[in-house]
Amino acid sequence: MGASEGESMSSLPGEWEGHLQRGLDHLESAHLLRHTRKSDEMSACFGSNDYLGLAQRRTAAATTSSFRCPERRGSILVSGYSAAHEDLEEKILELKSLAGCPGACAVLFPSGFAANLSVGMALCSVHAGQNPSQRIHVYSDELNHASIIDGIRFAKAMKGSRNNLFLHVYKHNDVKDLKRQLQNASGSDTGSLSVVFSESVFSMDGDICDLRGIAQLKQDHKFLLVLDEAHATLVMGDRGGGVAQALGLSHEVDLAVGTLSKAVGSFGGFAVARSGLLRSILLNKGRPVIYSTALPSALVREALTNIDIGMGEQGSAMREKLRKNVRFLTKALVERGFICGQGGGKEAQLMSPIIPVAMPSEQFALRTSSHLWEKHGIFVPAIRPPTVPTSRLRIAVLATHSLKELLLLADALTETRSAVNEHARL
Ligand SMILES: Cc1ncc(COP(=O)(O)O)c(C=O)c1O
Repeated sequence: MGASEGESMSSLPGEWEGHLQRGLDHLESAHLLRHTRKSDEMSACFGSNDYLGLAQRRTAAATTSSFRCPERRGSILVSGYSAAHEDLEEKILELKSLAGCPGACAVLFPSGFAANLSVGMALCSVHAGQNPSQRIHVYSDELNHASIIDGIRFAKAMKGSRNNLFLHVYKHNDVKDLKRQLQNASGSDTGSLSVVFSESVFSMDGDICDLRGIAQLKQDHKFLLVLDEAHATLVMGDRGGGVAQALGLSHEVDLAVGTLSKAVGSFGGFAVARSGLLRSILLNKGRPVIYSTALPSALVREALTNIDIGMGEQGSAMREKLRKNVRFLTKALVERGFICGQGGGKEAQLMSPIIPVAMPSEQFALRTSSHLWEKHGIFVPAIRPPTVPTSRLRIAVLATHSLKELLLLADALTETRSAVNEHARL
């Protein structure tokens, strides 16, 4: 934990607090403010869409008698929130080393994609009750995930934001470019609000965000920092809390997004906020969470169990094995002449499990992926534009891969390269 990680988490940078509070006050005065309420405490529920009762049958079969949790089918704001959901929110705060920190809170989403859409729509739009001419500058890494981009796009499409939202896309992981753009835009626009979006482990290149650099910029520029830790959750950090935890910078992140569908091995998404205001605005203005069915309790319980495992000794051993595998495979590939972008940038020591292998063309990437599959029964996806600027194979290393499997892949890739080159010469 970083020096100031236990400090008060509740104040937000610049004018964000007043801005968000005004939107919520407006809802409150119109009797429109929404809250979560636990379905376990309902003696009867007429707000579930489980019309045939099938979801309840499944829960009855899957649950032990000691676990009391009625299965409801409704949005998290109607009947889809239970004690299990609340427990998972608490567990996620623990994972992030934020349990008990004043103001810190979590929200669950139907998926990580829905989390990012909700964050974009809730934060980058100007809502009723807020200053209708409030300008918001949004800074987004050029390689951010589609869900972050679409969240900002949705915000831009909303009535109150068409003329108020200014999008600045900065060069990938380039803090100097971010600084230049912050100075040019927000610096000369007094009274405006700023928000920066980045992934912590970039999903297609596997490199790690320059979080120290971004955190330094916060000293001069009062922006809200949203960090998507989808690929870092349970993978990086002492307890698996992510890159911010690994670098002791959790206190610099205003809103961390994550998924329960990758290393957590369940399904769903989450956001961790350093202020209750953020949770409230997400629940009231994040349309994908308001208008989707909440996570089923079976998945919630699975996530709870897996996060517990991931935070403990077993999780640490798995992370260590994962790093060992990444080192082993990277070395084997480099020895065989492959160009591996197992970047990591300034934080390469954190060992991202995503290894991109550069391919000379889209066709070469596709042929390599097909040959690996057809001749060797090994699946490695070819990733091409527009998902990424240049084609590559994207290898995702797991802790459960054996060294024998990793060697098999390195040798199969070498054979495949010769076969595809030979085919190209014919
Ligand atoms: C960086 C990033 N954010 C968000 C998501 C979406 O997460 P989910 O699969 O839970 O919708 C993904 C999934 O690929 C991702 O890579």
